[in-house]
Amino acid sequence: MSNKQLQASKNSSVTQVKWHKIVVLGLFTAIWVLYYTVSWPDSTIPRPPGPRPAHKSPIFLSRALANLTHLLYWPLTPGHRGDILASTSPQTSTYHLRSPARASYTLGSYLEAILVARDHGGRPKTHGGDLFRAQLLGPYLSAGVPGDVQDLENGTYLLSFPLLWAGRAQVQVRLIHSSEAVGVLRRIWREEGATVDFTGYFRGPTGYEENMTCNVNPLLFGEEEAICYYKDEDSGELWFCAQPLTLPCDSLVGHSAGRYWNVTTPHEDALLAWNLTDKVLPQSIGPVLVSKKRNRKLVSSPEQPCYPGIPAPKPSGFYYGQVWRSLACSSRSFPTADSILSCLAGHIVHMMGDSTLRQWWEYLRDTAPSLKPVDLHTIHHSGPLMAVDTTRGIVLHWRAHSWPLRSLRTPVASLHSVVRELAGLAGGRHTVVVLGLGAHFTTFPPSIFVRRLAGIRAAVMALLAREPSTLVVIKLANTGYKSVYGSDWFTLQVNRLLRAAFSGVRVAFVDAWEMTSSLPLPDNIHPVKLIVRNEVDLLLSFICPT
Ligand SMILES: *[C@@H]1O[C@H](CO)[C@@H](O)[C@H](O)[C@H]1NC(C)=O
Ligand SMILES: *[C@@H]1O[C@H](CO)[C@@H](O)[C@H](O)[C@H]1NC(C)=O
Ligand SMILES: *[C@@H]1O[C@H](CO)[C@@H](O)[C@H](O)[C@H]1NC(C)=O
Ligand SMILES: *[C@@H]1O[C@H](CO)[C@@H](O)[C@H](O)[C@H]1NC(C)=O
Ligand SMILES: *[C@@H]1O[C@H](CO)[C@@H](O)[C@H](O)[C@H]1NC(C)=O
Repeated sequence: MSNKQLQASKNSSVTQVKWHKIVVLGLFTAIWVLYYTVSWPDSTIPRPPGPRPAHKSPIFLSRALANLTHLLYWPLTPGHRGDILASTSPQTSTYHLRSPARASYTLGSYLEAILVARDHGGRPKTHGGDLFRAQLLGPYLSAGVPGDVQDLENGTYLLSFPLLWAGRAQVQVRLIHSSEAVGVLRRIWREEGATVDFTGYFRGPTGYEENMTCNVNPLLFGEEEAICYYKDEDSGELWFCAQPLTLPCDSLVGHSAGRYWNVTTPHEDALLAWNLTDKVLPQSIGPVLVSKKRNRKLVSSPEQPCYPGIPAPKPSGFYYGQVWRSLACSSRSFPTADSILSCLAGHIVHMMGDSTLRQWWEYLRDTAPSLKPVDLHTIHHSGPLMAVDTTRGIVLHWRAHSWPLRSLRTPVASLHSVVRELAGLAGGRHTVVVLGLGAHFTTFPPSIFVRRLAGIRAAVMALLAREPSTLVVIKLANTGYKSVYGSDWFTLQVNRLLRAAFSGVRVAFVDAWEMTSSLPLPDNIHPVKLIVRNEVDLLLSFICPT
């Protein structure tokens, strides 16, 4: 397909594609190649006045793609014999202190342990790739920090825990997925173009409706199927639906989640079964005692205020007294409605993302009663939601990111791409942008999210170039999912992409992954209020650093 043809199809946002698979493949490849190698040439047709599309960032894209293998590195699982009993077992795997136990440990030092992974027969594993999660916990829910798990790739893992509070501390380790289960997830990312589909609702002038399957890639449709494709003018993002029998492509009015595909074999299902997933290893180390240092009972946060672009240590913080204490900057608490409102006064906050970010909006609405939700009478699953405090001059927006949102039926017209929203913002020191994406991208190969992030990164850079005083905050994806459609392993990889996409850009990160990995609470894709409060407090710490 020539550039000219592509240019022509670009100029109409809705195009019917009636060619057979081979042509569609060519089209998709052409778009793909063009997208990755060159930025879109400016349209030769004059554009109406309005926000210019953000500059594409082909350099990030080609680098990230060239380096996707590097970025998403995970030790390979050698082909196994189809024997569940040969997979890593949470019951037989153990860990022990690296050095002889001491009566007490020094505040600020590290506790190290060696984990030995074993299979169900108790035989030590000889390769890495298991997804373990390690924590150091204080008594009750008072304190906790994620431990670092270093895969030594020979069946052993080095666990390392910073000792950040005085008193008792207990190691806890969970096997989230065996390396064999991770092998299944990798296969799915490698071989399946998607694990879910979506429904597009088309409506004709008489109100007659047809619904069709939609997805991120035209190759996911049947050989003979005619396809409608949709391009977001601001981001270049593509979306595809099977063409309705009678209605035209541009009659697409509604969107919802569709089916979850059966993509696993019974053996793979067994490896991912609940009784092998997210299981606590037998306690192998007793509680340790950490002594105070110069009468201090806590490692304190650095004194520097929280600002975007600040380097994040690992871990980026810990819980103490149910409060997340950043190790990157002097994070603050906003315990009362008044403290929240005085921080937000004079700000307009644009939240764009998924339902884990909607929890932030809901928390603020529920905690600060003078933030009144504006009843739009048309509130859909995807928003937009708005709450305002007219006295203090606060506006709080939330809206869902666009496709591939898994939602109840929602109007296509209210699914704005993040790039489009960003392009419409003037920015400035009263503007706060919060992005929270990831959870809806685990059902596709990582290249789909990479492409999305490239556009968003470019739009964020353009916004910061327009108004450098704009605060942009990235909420990383949190723990929770444990299935083949969404899993902590996918989420870990998605977070690596998020970090890479915004490296070198002056944005603030809220590491929701760590904040949902530190306390002995059950994982939940929608974390409990205690965690949401701490996530929002960190956001407010960036808005009001002093
Ligand atoms: C890939 O990334 C690593 C570290 O992030 C870097 O050292 C390496 O040079 C990169 N390779 C390419 C081809 O960009
Ligand atoms: C695994 O590798 C580490 C680091 O190379 C080494 O210290 C350890 O002895 C090895 N363990 C086994 C069981 O091979
Ligand atoms: C799509 O349309 C068919 C036939 O009208 C109907 O049976 C089905 O329930 C619809 N599906 C959805 C997801 O609305
Ligand atoms: C997937 O598998 C489940 C249970 O095995 C079955 O009930 C369902 O109909 C299957 N779905 C599809 C689309 O094949
Ligand atoms: C897990 O559960 C399945 C049945 O759901 C059972 O057949 C299997 O033996 C269990 N595996 C373990 C290791 O308990």
